[in-house]
Amino acid sequence: DVQLIHSFKGIPFPTRVTIDQLNSLDRFEAREDDVLLVSYPKSGTHWLMEILKNLYHYRLQGRSVAITQPLEFQDPAKIHELRNLPGPRLIPTHLPQQMVPRKLQTKNCKTIYVIRNPKDTAVSMFHYYQRNPHLPKVDKWSTFLDMFLKGEVVYGSWVDHLISWERSDNDENILFVYYENLKKDLPKCVREISEFLGVRVTEDQVRDVAKKSSFSEMKERVEREKARPDNNHTVCALTSDRKLIFRKGAVGDWKNHFTAEQNSQFEALLREKINSSELASNVEY
Ligand code: PPS
Repeated sequence: DVQLIHSFKGIPFPTRVTIDQLNSLDRFEAREDDVLLVSYPKSGTHWLMEILKNLYHYRLQGRSVAITQPLEFQDPAKIHELRNLPGPRLIPTHLPQQMVPRKLQTKNCKTIYVIRNPKDTAVSMFHYYQRNPHLPKVDKWSTFLDMFLKGEVVYGSWVDHLISWERSDNDENILFVYYENLKKDLPKCVREISEFLGVRVTEDQVRDVAKKSSFSEMKERVEREKARPDNNHTVCALTSDRKLIFRKGAVGDWKNHFTAEQNSQFEALLREKINSSELASNVEY
């Protein structure tokens, strides 16, 4: 069997993220105007990226903003090429805070962290494991949930990841955004994000950004554009095939998967840590 997961500093990673890449993170040269988009996997990274891309489209008067590959996916031999990108560079990552180069956290770079109800995140990740050839197949939902609750899935424990960023000492530069709030009132969240980034937009532009980043609109565009050569896509794919990303885009799909017993298992394993975190406590479980 091909090995698809390996561990680095106690955290499981897909083997596509090589140890060499992880050891080279410190070679990344941060800039003041870099914008970091941080998330635990399956929390709404692509959604946020679409929002940011459209906001910057206005700020840059029509020029497309530079979006890099996720930090941990950078080819060490090509890190220097990132120097040539015009700012601001939007840099996604799923890394826990302690693995992100200090430079990116001391240069006043703005950071947006997306949080999603871990129950929905676990369901999303389960389906993603089934369909992504780069991840191991886990046949049963109960087996997967068990792995998720123990932090034995890619990028480790959900709650540890959130806590690592919550306790970061660069906190005035971090905006925490909840997936469920994006669902509830997208224009309001777009306004908050634009204020945080210092991007001035009109109400018409806010509505336009919200429309372009709705689930149905993004999913349809992926469908419509699937035959195009890669660089002509309007929805960016950060590490995997676009069509693997847009599944249901819903809040509460966990109710179709969790049994009452699994819900108790979730409580028993995560509740104590959740209670120790203000951000995790604010999730509607
Ligand atoms: S990844 O691979 O970790 O970067 O995936 P990520 O983008 O973080 O998360 C994928 C889930 O986000 C949903 N999604 C959206 N939901 C609502 N609205 C929009 N516009 C949107 N775009 C992506 C996507 O459908 C995945 O969730 P599930 O529950 O699997 O559908």
